[in-house]
Amino acid sequence: MVLAALKLGYRHLDTAYGYGNEEAVGRAIRDSGVPREEIFLTTKLTGKHHGTVKEGFEISMKALNAEYIDLYLMHWPQASHPDTGKSIPYGESPTFVETWKSMEKLLSDKRCRAIGVSNFSVKLLTELAAECSTIPAANQVESHPYLPQTSLHEYCKEKGIVLTAYSPLGQPKPSNPSPVLAEPVAKQLAEKYKTPVGTILLSWLIQRGWTTVPKSANPERLKQNMDLVKLSSDDFNTLSEVHKQRGKLMHLCIGQEDIMEKGVISGWSLEDMGWEKMD
Ligand code: A2P
Repeated sequence: MVLAALKLGYRHLDTAYGYGNEEAVGRAIRDSGVPREEIFLTTKLTGKHHGTVKEGFEISMKALNAEYIDLYLMHWPQASHPDTGKSIPYGESPTFVETWKSMEKLLSDKRCRAIGVSNFSVKLLTELAAECSTIPAANQVESHPYLPQTSLHEYCKEKGIVLTAYSPLGQPKPSNPSPVLAEPVAKQLAEKYKTPVGTILLSWLIQRGWTTVPKSANPERLKQNMDLVKLSSDDFNTLSEVHKQRGKLMHLCIGQEDIMEKGVISGWSLEDMGWEKMD
């Protein structure tokens, strides 16, 4: 599908050590014949490599077999134990600040064009900024109309940090349809603009100034997700407000119930993460 996407005109590829598909992504790039400089390639440092950043980077570079990557993200702020996989508690070494300082060193290597973070809140970005000199080039977080990340949006805009939305469609699965694709306002706009609901959701993100990484293994949807519409400012604002309706503000990708009932994300509390408590 990566090869199909490149042939259709996709140019931003988002992979990660943790997805186990770096090798296939690298192969698709080479097989596509698309010049490397036309492609923006992102991969991510996994938790078990927080204490050994250089090693993690080399493992990804080897799997990708690419000359360079455009962006290297810290996938999550939590480090994990290399042997047990257990999450290292907030504040214990390697902290995300220590990991970031090791990532900064990669910038002297021409094979790493920029570094950034993922799943970072305003709280964690502020803690990072207090101790490090390099501002993350990007922050990749879950976002869609049910999770607009408004304060993070304002913070990153002010600091010049590019925001990328993952799960822009709410990560639908046949067994678990995405509520955001069924959102009545999004459906009404889809009818009005004579376009699929997915296109409305992606257009809304792009209109906010975000980048996004929709994925599809379905050739038709892969193509469809490249088309955007320009929402009127009234329509854009209406969709931006739906999360304010009771019960609509939610994480769709990690399991809202797990997060909110247990209040823990990979061993860190919502407070450690700087994530809001939701109804
Ligand atoms: P499929 O591969 O069958 O197209 P997300 O990007 O939010 O994580 O969601 C990814 C999932 O969304 C994929 O499993 C994909 O399934 C599905 N998907 C991709 N594009 C669309 C679309 N335009 N409308 C509905 N579902 C989509």
